[in-house]
Amino acid sequence: MKIAIIGSGTMGSGIAQVAATAGCSVKLYDTNQAALDKSKTALAKVMNRLVEKGKIEETEKSRIENTISYVSSLKDLSDADLTIEAIIENAEIKQKVFAELESYQSDEAIIASNTSSLSIASLASSLKKPERFIGIHFFNPAPLMPLVEIIPAIQTSEEVKNKVIQTIADWKKIGVLAKDTPGFIVNRVARPFYGEALRIYEEGIADFATIDWAMEEMGGFRMGPFKLMDFIGNDINYTVTETVFTAFYFDPRYRPAFTQKRFAEAGYLGRKSGRGYYNYAENATNPEPNRDQKLGKEIFERILVMLINEAADALFLNIASAKDIDLAMTKGVNYPKGLLAWANEMSIDWCVEKMDALYEKYREDRYRCSPLLRKMRKESQIF
Ligand SMILES: NC(=O)c1ccc[n+]([C@@H]2O[C@H](COP(=O)([O-])OP(=O)(O)OC[C@H]3O[C@@H](n4cnc5c(N)ncnc54)[C@H](O)[C@@H]3O)[C@@H](O)[C@H]2O)c1
Repeated sequence: MKIAIIGSGTMGSGIAQVAATAGCSVKLYDTNQAALDKSKTALAKVMNRLVEKGKIEETEKSRIENTISYVSSLKDLSDADLTIEAIIENAEIKQKVFAELESYQSDEAIIASNTSSLSIASLASSLKKPERFIGIHFFNPAPLMPLVEIIPAIQTSEEVKNKVIQTIADWKKIGVLAKDTPGFIVNRVARPFYGEALRIYEEGIADFATIDWAMEEMGGFRMGPFKLMDFIGNDINYTVTETVFTAFYFDPRYRPAFTQKRFAEAGYLGRKSGRGYYNYAENATNPEPNRDQKLGKEIFERILVMLINEAADALFLNIASAKDIDLAMTKGVNYPKGLLAWANEMSIDWCVEKMDALYEKYREDRYRCSPLLRKMRKESQIF
C-alpha cells in the first residue's frame, strides 16, 4: 500500500515510521526542508536505538529507512492510496491542502486528517469527493501508543471506513470508532481528570502534590493530573480544554480553570519551561503530599466518578461503543482500568449516589448525573 504523510513534525514522522514498519511504502511531505531533514535524522536515531536494543535487525532498519522518501512537492503524492495529514491545527490551511491534493490524486485515493480537535465533516467539505475523507487520530508518540481513533464524517463512505479500519489493524494498532464530535473519545472523556483536579485545588481542598498522590496511590494512575499537565504542557492542555468547552457550546462540564490559564500566561508551562505546578530546576524541592487516607479517598473518588460519568455519557450519546470507550482510555492514555469496567466495580448505585451528592452540594449543571447511569441503576444493569 502506498502511503503519503503531509507534515513531518512530531506526529507525521511517527505515523510515517508506523506505516513503514508495517511494510507500506511511504512518502513524507513538508513545506519546510528543515523539518524533513530533522525527521530523517530523528528516524535514524530511533532505528539505531532499536537495533542496539536488539528489537530489530540491521536489515530491517535499512528496509524501514529506505522505504520512506522525503518529498517537497504536494504533486509527488499523486499515487498514494492513503494520505494522512498532520500539519498545523488550522482548518483553513488544512482545507486548502486537501483541495489541492485531491486535484492530483485518483478518485479512489483516501484522504485523512490526524486532527485532534477540528470537525471531520468540515474538513471533508473542502473536497469534491468528501466521501473519500476520514479522521485517523494517532496518539503521541505514534510508534509507541497502540490506540488510533477512527472518525468517519457524515460524508464518509462505508467502503472508505472499512478500508481504514483494516489498514489500522494491519499496522498492528488498536482502532476504535468514534463519532465526529469534539474531542472524539479520549480528549472528551479525559477532561475531568484535569478539570476536577483543578477544581478541587481551587476550592482549597488539597494542593497539587496531594491530589497527584491520591490519584497515583489510590487510583493507580501512572501520573497524577498536575504531573501530567506539566508533562503535556499547560499551554497545550489549556487550549484543548478551551477548544472542547467552546465546541460543546459552553457546557459547564468542560469549563476551563483560571488556575491553568494563569499558569500558562505566566509561562509556567511545565517540564518544557522548567516550571509548572512543580519546579523542575536541579536541586529544587517540591512540597510533600498530605498522605491523609480519608482526604486521599475523597479526592480520588470525586475525580473517578466524574470520569465515569463522562464515559457513561459518551456511551449514552453513541459517541462510541462501551468496548471502544474502555479501550480508548486504557490504550490511548494508559488509564489503569477502563472507566465503564471501573463503574461496574464500584457499582452503578455508588456512581449515581456520588454524582447526586456532588450535585446536591454544588447545584451546578457540571455535576449532573448521566441519564444512562440512572437508567441502569433503575433496571439493575451493569456495563
Ligand atoms: N502533538 C500531539 O500530541 C498530537 C497528537 C494527536 C494529534 N495531533 C495533531 O496532529 C497535527 C500535527 O501536530 P504535530 O504536533 O505533529 O505538529 P508539528 O508542529 O510537530 O508538525 C507540523 C508540521 O507540519 C508542517 N506544515 C505546516 N504547514 C504545512 C503545509 N501547509 N504543508 C505541509 N506541511 C506543513 C510544519 O513544517 C511541521 O513540520 C495537528 O493537527 C495536531 O492537532 C497532535
